[in-house]
Order: sequence, then C-alpha cells, then structure tokens
Amino acid sequence: FFGYQSFFPREAIPYDDDQEGLKDQIVFKFSHVVAENTPKGLAAQRFAELVAEKSNGHIKIEVFPNGSLYSDIQEINALREGQVHFIAPSTSKLGMLSPQWGVLDLPFAFPSREAALEGLNGKIGQQLLRSLQGDGIKGLAHWPNGFKQITSNQGPIQKPGDLKGQSFRIMQSDVISAQFSRLKAKAVQDSFNSTYKLLEEGVVDGEENTISNIYSKKFYNLQKHMTISNHGYLGYAVMMSEKVWNEQTEETKKILLEAMEETTAWNSRMAFEMNEELLEKIRQNSSIQIYELSPEEKQEWQAKLDPVYEDFLQEIGKNLVEEMKELRV
Ligand code: LMR
Repeated sequence: FFGYQSFFPREAIPYDDDQEGLKDQIVFKFSHVVAENTPKGLAAQRFAELVAEKSNGHIKIEVFPNGSLYSDIQEINALREGQVHFIAPSTSKLGMLSPQWGVLDLPFAFPSREAALEGLNGKIGQQLLRSLQGDGIKGLAHWPNGFKQITSNQGPIQKPGDLKGQSFRIMQSDVISAQFSRLKAKAVQDSFNSTYKLLEEGVVDGEENTISNIYSKKFYNLQKHMTISNHGYLGYAVMMSEKVWNEQTEETKKILLEAMEETTAWNSRMAFEMNEELLEKIRQNSSIQIYELSPEEKQEWQAKLDPVYEDFLQEIGKNLVEEMKELRV
C-alpha cells in the first residue's frame, strides 16, 4: 500500500514537547470532526507543524480531531464565541451562514479533481470565502476531501430508482436534501459523529460520504453495499473568527497565511489520491459489495438530479450556478 505512509506528517517535530510553555507562546485550538487519517485530519496536523516550524515554536496549534471538542453542529458558534480558533467544517454545513454555499452541493458538481481545483481556486471558491466576512469570519482556504459515494444495507444501488423508500443520513444541507427527495428517498440530517450509531441501530439504511470518511469511521463494517457514484463534492472551508484574526500581529498573520498556503497546496495534491488508495483498503479488508456506476448509468443519475440546479438557482445565485455549470462541460 505504497504512497499512503507519505500522507502522514513527517516524523521529526522539533518543537513539540520541549518548548511547551515557551514564554509568550500563543496557543490556538483547531477543532474538527473527522479521524486523523483523513485529508482534513492530516492537513490540520501538517498546518500545526508548519506553524510551529515557522514560528520557532512560538505559535502552537493544538488539533482536536473526532469532534472531541465540538460537534459539527456546535463548532461554528464556538468559533464565533472565541472558544475555538480554527475550524474546517464541510462546506455543506455552511448554508446557515449563506445559501451560496449550496453551489458546492449541487449534484455531480465538479466532474473531476481538476475541475474541483479550478472552481475552488477560481471565482466560485473566492466568492464563497469572501461571503464569510459578513458573518465576522475570516475564510482562509478550501481544503478538498473528494467525491461522495453511497453506502446502504438495501442494495445494490445501481439505478437512481433503487434509492426509493430507503433512508439516508445526510449533512445539514437543503441542496443535498432536495436530491434525496428527487430520488424518493428519506434524508435524515444529523451530525457526522452520530452517523455510526444511526447505521448501527438501523435508524437509517445508509449514508453518503467520501471513501476516507467511510474507511476511517468504519461505516463499511455496518453496510452491505457501496456504490461508487461520485455524485457530489465534499470539502472544507478553513476559517478563523475575524475578531481573533484582527487581534494578531502582522508577523503572526504572515506565518499563519504562509503555513495555510503550503498546507492547502499539499492537501489539494493528496486528498483525492488518498480516497482512491483507501478504496483499495476497503476492497481488501471487508466484504462490502462495491458497485461502480457505468458511464450510461451515471448519465441516467445526472438526468434525474439535474433539475436541482434550477430549483436552487435563485437561492444560491445565478452567477454561481452558471459558473458551476461551465465547469461541467
Ligand atoms: C459529514 O458530516 O459527513 C462530513 O462533513 C464530515 C467531514 O467533516 O468530513
């Protein structure tokens, strides 16, 4: 399983223990909900390492993974109240800040990794980060995870009609909810950290997520079927509160921005590949039945879900929806 180890942070972390309690050390808390061996988990650790290196240990980022500090439902308020300094929620959960974020949840948005990076680094990504200013939030970067797949105990899921009558845990997003309605499935919005239990107790038949989340949280152990559908994007907006940002010195801001830029470039190279490699791990280690949509089936799904673009045109904003459509051709 070759490239995988290279995803983990480098071994030498010179500033960790011995410089604990440095005089005038600044400590920031970075809270997130996923496991450490995921694109977001690794990027958060790498960011912390780079900041420590660049500041000679004077700035310390403490990373709290697995929702150990705040759930995805709590973390945005905790950021605004200054209880946590960095978060990276999945963009699907930012509808409470602005409906514009729904653009990234549109069905089959970003047909490829290249299109995703083009959109996130271009007008779509920039407009979305800027939109956070009105909420007192400093948007720092987009960290992609990858494309979503569908898992279920009622399967196999091959045709769009196969979801009919089934229930799925989804993120807190109206655009995602509308897609499940179009497929005549029931969507249950709940936190990421509740998902395992919902599946285990049979409250829902399935869920949708990236391979790295399905793998690291062992959802595949609870599910009989997985469909490689790549039917939607999942990624993160990294953010600080504007107030906390403004309180920092120019030197601190420079270090944070440089470390963020390097981490983002690394995350963009590594995330999609990591999902591909972890799919092989699931294949090797579990008995889950994996079905890959054929190009014809994918077209059928797309045709079924395409009306969602029109349904959310006003709410998301015409310019963003049009930009997204251009990336699809
Ligand atoms: C989910 O809730 O399924 C994901 O957003 C979790 C995450 O942060 O990747």
